[in-house]
Amino acid sequence: MPHKVNGLFQASRIDRVRKENADTLTLFLDASLPDAAPGQFVMAWLPGVGEKPFSISGNDPLTLTVCAVGPVSRALCELKPADQLWVRGPLGKGFVLSGETHILVGGGYGAAPLYFLAKKARALNHEVTLCLGAKTRADLILLDQFEALRCRVLLATEDGSAGAQGLVSLPLLQALEQNLRAEVYACGPTGMLLAVHTLCRRVNLSAQLSFEALIRCGIGLCGSCELSEETCQQLGVPSGFLICSDGPVIKSARLH
Ligand SMILES: Cc1cc2nc3c(=O)[nH]c(=O)nc-3n(C[C@H](O)[C@H](O)[C@H](O)COP(=O)(O)OP(=O)(O)OC[C@H]3O[C@@H](n4cnc5c(N)ncnc54)[C@H](O)[C@@H]3O)c2cc1C
Ligand code: FES
Repeated sequence: MPHKVNGLFQASRIDRVRKENADTLTLFLDASLPDAAPGQFVMAWLPGVGEKPFSISGNDPLTLTVCAVGPVSRALCELKPADQLWVRGPLGKGFVLSGETHILVGGGYGAAPLYFLAKKARALNHEVTLCLGAKTRADLILLDQFEALRCRVLLATEDGSAGAQGLVSLPLLQALEQNLRAEVYACGPTGMLLAVHTLCRRVNLSAQLSFEALIRCGIGLCGSCELSEETCQQLGVPSGFLICSDGPVIKSARLH
């Protein structure tokens, strides 16, 4: 039975590890976060290595989908079953399901919180279209999992090895043309999020966008994760927005 995690660091153990692609894997922990919402994150800490935020890709058991890019993420990707990992959370404000037709847009490991969201929506029998983008087919993650949930999956890759050739905005346009009353949820690099915001505004839809920032305390104390004034203005959110506690999910304003 997984133990519950709260706001303080708690030691967990790795139950199993699933490889997603050459650089990414999912860690299954012997912990659960029954009250966590998709889009929330945990701080994962390896003593002597460091502490970084990771989206919750599943809450029972708690799963984290980690792409190895630097010291902390590489060390996490070397963990084996029975190894210890300290986590605190859930932190931040996540996605809120709105309506019954959803378009999910992901780039890179942005697919991780969207998988948790899709699972929740499909359990309610809601319609889910996933638009997923990556550099190449080999970089796409969690595809089988989304397909097993019976989501409609539209792909884009920069080299054209899977789906449309180009950016994820191509399948998003296609999905929007067919679903002008859907709610849009996105997680990925900032450029992708701003492009999603622009496309949604064109058709007067609001979007829930999950942003990244340099997160240190994770609880709204240190100010290191403040969203730039320019981005606040672009999205129509008050200045001084803290990604860790006011976000990471931002509901962008409609035109009218
Ligand atoms: C709210 C939130 C949720 C997050 N969720 C996840 C998640 O679910 N899975 C996950 O793997 N990471 C996630 N991250 C990113 C994670 O917190 C770390 O920033 C990342 O793992 C790199 O940390 P590091 O210490 O290993 O490397 P760092 O030393 O921080 O980075 C090493 C180098 O890699 C670059 N880099 C950082 N991220 C990427 C990237 N995505 N692709 C290519 N280069 C990059 C940096 O610019 C730097 O040059 C999330 C971040 C936030 C703020
Ligand atoms: S990380 Fe400290 S305020 Fe957000």
